[in-house]
Amino acid sequence: MKLYSTIACLLLFCSLGFTQVTFSEDIADIIYNNCSNCHRTGEIGPMPFTNYEEVKDWGTMIKYVTEIDYMPPWSPNPEYKHLLNERVLTDEQKSKIATWVDNGMLQGNPQNEPNLPTFPTGSQIGSPDVVLQMAQSHTVIGDNKDEYYVFVLPTDFTEDKEIACIEFRPDNKRAVHHVLIGYDETGQAAARDAQTPEYGYSSFGDFGVAGAEFLSWTYVPGDLPLVFPEGIGEVIPAGADLLIQVHYAPLPSDEVDKSSVNIFFKGEDDPIERPVMTGWVLPNNLPGGFASFVLPPNEVTEFTALNFDGWSNSGSGVNYDVSLVSVQPHGHLLAKSFEVFAVTPQNDTINIVQIPEYDFNWQGAYTMPKLLPVPANSTWYTKAVYDNTVDNPYNPSNPPKFAFWGEGTEDEMLVNFFNFVVYQEGDENVVLGENILNSSIKVGALQNSTLFALHPNPSDGNFSLSFHLESDMEIEIFLRDLQGSMIQSLKPKRSYESGFHEVAISATNLISGVYLVELRSSFDQIQQKIVIR
Ligand code: HEC
Repeated sequence: MKLYSTIACLLLFCSLGFTQVTFSEDIADIIYNNCSNCHRTGEIGPMPFTNYEEVKDWGTMIKYVTEIDYMPPWSPNPEYKHLLNERVLTDEQKSKIATWVDNGMLQGNPQNEPNLPTFPTGSQIGSPDVVLQMAQSHTVIGDNKDEYYVFVLPTDFTEDKEIACIEFRPDNKRAVHHVLIGYDETGQAAARDAQTPEYGYSSFGDFGVAGAEFLSWTYVPGDLPLVFPEGIGEVIPAGADLLIQVHYAPLPSDEVDKSSVNIFFKGEDDPIERPVMTGWVLPNNLPGGFASFVLPPNEVTEFTALNFDGWSNSGSGVNYDVSLVSVQPHGHLLAKSFEVFAVTPQNDTINIVQIPEYDFNWQGAYTMPKLLPVPANSTWYTKAVYDNTVDNPYNPSNPPKFAFWGEGTEDEMLVNFFNFVVYQEGDENVVLGENILNSSIKVGALQNSTLFALHPNPSDGNFSLSFHLESDMEIEIFLRDLQGSMIQSLKPKRSYESGFHEVAISATNLISGVYLVELRSSFDQIQQKIVIR
């Protein structure tokens, strides 16, 4: 069919220098694969684009929003750095849409129209180990205003859990715009929720309590959640509450939502060897310190934060090689743009993400398509620009007012999270987003009989070491530095029976940093990195 129509085109039009662009042959494919996951009945897109008539009715607007890159929604600049799940049209796709609209939106031959993709309804990645649902439904008020609500989902985990993936499943897809995910082991979020009879609490900026920790998963309609590759994952501590901050879109009438979260544990044969570590950027990382984060009215203010905290000692960066997984820059309504990059000791710049037009309503975690190595002692930059003038259409204050750090709509934030792991050779080839669950991993040493894991990692020096032996063996356990020099003997040589072992270790008087824990038998040895805080 395609061939015949191409020939027809050649005969009829192309000789006249006129390119025929039709819905069936050219446009349906672009719309169905880039727009329809959100723009179909019951989803967040305000109008469906699932057939010729629906798309044609919005043709002029579609041409406009794609030309200005407003749709599909994607704030980062793809030319600065390609990212996972990036939603962008190529220039060729955009100009095809424009030509189609300008030439009268011809349908072409409906028999050539591709089918709509099948959109999965349940989990998009597998069967979860745990499903947590909102305990009660939330009613989104139909007043055409955005709502930001935090819901506290108790995990009832009795031990620390190694997590491969967290998948948010929207219940009311018309209402749920996007979601941030975290946890709280302090009970503060639950206490805040308990202050009012209403289920959940309203919180604009983030989870609204000091004890909350961000996880590296976020939800935007149509995105597949990241499943961490072999040996990598995050830990949710025993007893923690999972937190979701749900942004509900403006709606003309009341809607009810009772969303849930799927949790996938790391497989027993794929323990976390390299936990995801999070460094955070706050105004503390500004050269002028926290107090310098002030946004005077009628001014555009630029800040450059250096390195990050939480991980390194007081914002000095990291003194060992790491591989970056994702970043999550966060500001409020005055935030105009972000640029995140690292500069190596050799003065090479590693681009991470540039968001020329930051959009509070489409924020999320930006994941690297492959693990991105960043050498030791690089300087990490988070540049943020805030527009507190009347030219900023999102400015919550008119006339503009002084804005300071805070959680409210009129307050501002300068936050960025760097999620990374200790570098391991070959990381530059590790593709993220392959979404394979429960891949099997065995450390190939000590005669292939060892499942070797350290918990917790990072640790304060007290950690447990677990391993599995296929036969009885004499083993000694050492701590070495990254150059391989022996630091301490952790356990003297003794005989271990075949089977699973868990050994409690207390390493003392260590300077913060990365070390190697080594198991050594008479035949061979295996090592695992541990991070001592
Ligand atoms: C991730 C979800 C998502 C995807 C993908 C998406 N849209 Fe949208 N679209 C929305 C939402 C939500 C709105 C409502 C306005 C807003 O929130 O920005 C919208 C609004 C629109 C509008 C109305 C704009 C207005 O101001 O009235 C048009 C037209 C549109 N989208 C076209 C497209 C086209 C064309 C594509 C694909 C090339 C696309 N969208 C992809 C979510 C999406």
